Amino acid sequence: MNNINAISHKLAISLLSKLQRDMELASGRGISVYITSAVRGEGKTFVAETLVRYIAALSGYQILLVDANLEDPKLHKYFHVDRENGLSNGIRGGNWEQIQFKKTEIENLTILTAGSDRHAGLVFPQQQVKQFLDFVTKRFDLVFFDGASLSTTGANSLVYLSNGILLVLDSQSTKREVLYDALSDLLSDADKIIGVVLNKKLHYIPRIIYRYL
Ligand SMILES: Nc1ncnc2c1ncn2[C@@H]1O[C@H](COP(=O)(O)OP(=O)(O)OP(=O)(O)O)[C@@H](O)[C@H]1O
Ligand SMILES: [Mg+2]
Repeated sequence: MNNINAISHKLAISLLSKLQRDMELASGRGISVYITSAVRGEGKTFVAETLVRYIAALSGYQILLVDANLEDPKLHKYFHVDRENGLSNGIRGGNWEQIQFKKTEIENLTILTAGSDRHAGLVFPQQQVKQFLDFVTKRFDLVFFDGASLSTTGANSLVYLSNGILLVLDSQSTKREVLYDALSDLLSDADKIIGVVLNKKLHYIPRIIYRYL
């Protein structure tokens, strides 16, 4: 196992054991985790994609990964599916039955793309987000959101209504002040931060180091 695989494997196991405890309390419903960062490009999509592949393989749970970065959606490219008919269409149209949840080559991993009805700064109305979370947590054991950075959109209702928040931090470039500023949005929800991924720890050997707060 190379370095990145070993670290991703370890990260997936620690996160999974934490989430399993929360799942026991969720009385048969799935758990949702919003992945975000202080600024753009810290590695949210990279971490989300790597992590869910490991968690899917290790757990056998039904997992949904949602592209919730409507400003700059990328997940459809990682998984080679088309972007249409996804989250933004469901949020605007309100009919989740008609939204296409896309199968991946991993049997228990499904993708919801950003969709075509998106525009920068689309707000997520609380009522629609509640309906959406209700719909997906009935059908999936774990729901992960590959989100936008906090400095891009601020904390939206998806962040507030998810069960947990996973922060990705570019340890090479993100300044402490920038992180604290972004986190001020989350102060009232600080206990929902389930972990921090210190990403890009080394310059030339990509590495993820994970620790719980
Ligand atoms: N640990 C890593 N090892 C190697 N490459 C990485 C790592 N983390 C991120 N990258 C690369 O850095 C770039 C930015 O990563 P990514 O797209 O995941 O960031 P992001 O936080 O999702 O960005 P955005 O805010 O635009 O959504 C990508 O090219 C990605 O492949
Ligand atoms: Mg991204």
